[in-house]
Amino acid sequence: MLGKLNHVAIAVPDLAKGTEVYRTMLGAEVSAPQAEPDHGVTVVFVMLPNTKIELLEPLGEASPIKAFLDKNPSGGIHHVCYEVEDILAARDHLKSQGARVLGDGNPKIGAHGKPVLFLHPKDFCGTLVELEQA
Ligand code: CO
Repeated sequence: MLGKLNHVAIAVPDLAKGTEVYRTMLGAEVSAPQAEPDHGVTVVFVMLPNTKIELLEPLGEASPIKAFLDKNPSGGIHHVCYEVEDILAARDHLKSQGARVLGDGNPKIGAHGKPVLFLHPKDFCGTLVELEQA
């Protein structure tokens, strides 16, 4: 069912600092910041040959990553995103296996303009998992 690793998302308290770490210290190509008000984050994409890293900074008071950063003040891995061919078939399969899909269970349009779902970390080895229909 799982396809490629689409991205690893890292929550950071300071996007400019995070960008410098990846751009200057690690020598990676990093995009310009992109505000995603619908998702409560500002994001930069770190381009790697085989995948992407997304650095997420909270945007607005109701940001979904605010609680995570309260617990992890220097930042940390927030979620991993796997590609699937058919997100509804993947959801139905996972629900039939007893996995919990977050929200109302219906895919939303994610940061890349494609349908996404999030899966409960307690059902996936303690890691928040995003599925994206590739
Ligand atoms: Co993501």
